[in-house]
Amino acid sequence: MNKLIEMSNEIRSSKKFSRLGETYVISIIEEFLKKDKKLAKSFIEGPIKTKTYKEFLKDVKKFLHETYSVYQVREGAKKKQIYSLMKRTTNKEKLLELHEEMLHLHSSSRERKKDYETIYRNIFSVCGEPKKIFDIGCGMNAFSLPFAGIRGLEYIGCDAVEEDISLIAEYLKNVGKVLGFKGRSFLVNAFDKKFLVDISKVKSDVCFVFKMLDVFDYGVKHHKKSEEILKNINSKFLVVSFPTKTISNKKMSRPRRKWFEVMCDRLNWNFDYFETSNECFYVVKK
Ligand SMILES: C[S@@+](CC[C@H](N)C(=O)[O-])C[C@H]1O[C@@H](n2cnc3c(N)ncnc32)[C@H](O)[C@@H]1O
Repeated sequence: MNKLIEMSNEIRSSKKFSRLGETYVISIIEEFLKKDKKLAKSFIEGPIKTKTYKEFLKDVKKFLHETYSVYQVREGAKKKQIYSLMKRTTNKEKLLELHEEMLHLHSSSRERKKDYETIYRNIFSVCGEPKKIFDIGCGMNAFSLPFAGIRGLEYIGCDAVEEDISLIAEYLKNVGKVLGFKGRSFLVNAFDKKFLVDISKVKSDVCFVFKMLDVFDYGVKHHKKSEEILKNINSKFLVVSFPTKTISNKKMSRPRRKWFEVMCDRLNWNFDYFETSNECFYVVKK
């Protein structure tokens, strides 16, 4: 068996990573190997079950944990169950309840599930009601669309989790039609060189980049990657959010991201700012 597949299988055999696609896990392994050419050579040429290999695997798992697993509240079976109930439900109130249950299954949308109406109202008061929304690293956000209060909306979401992307595609096609919106979803990998091309192909009225900059800037102490990504987004408005609570759940005393504001000023991008109880939002006009 190809060694990359072997490594990927080993990672994906853990329940924590089993919903990640093989292609994605392999691309992350390759990304890590690129950083250490000597290690890459020893894996390709020699046996892989060595101490260094174990250390290497630990690093890859740590990355996948911090950029993916921490956001997963429950596993896929529950998502599928809720979705199949959604398809069968005609009662509007029950349908909205099921959307909240789905939003509960990703830690980011879970934290803001009661705030979505306010968040959408605040965003649209700056950028106007959009016809098309693009959502980068969308998580379960598609299931908040009924709270946007717009009919005829087109939504395009992308993320690295294959199973979620398929579920969102089905949801948009079947349930979206009933609720008055349409759209599609596609798989991306923010750490792949194709990513910038993939995202720049989508033209939208507003692009959501909720809680993604820490993922883009993973492992480095600068924000060059985030800046490059934001510049390549083909949308007049961007909505960039950040958590305002620390990992230990303490409210940050200064939640505003100065570096981000300095970057916007330097690029001549205007922004509006608002906060909810656990998140802060920049509505940026490029
Ligand atoms: C902090 S969550 C934000 C989710 C969503 N934007 C929200 O705020 O509700 C980070 C998201 O990034 C996604 N992600 C992790 N690694 C990624 C990658 N390499 N490329 C694209 N998305 C990735 C995760 O699956 C997760 O949904």
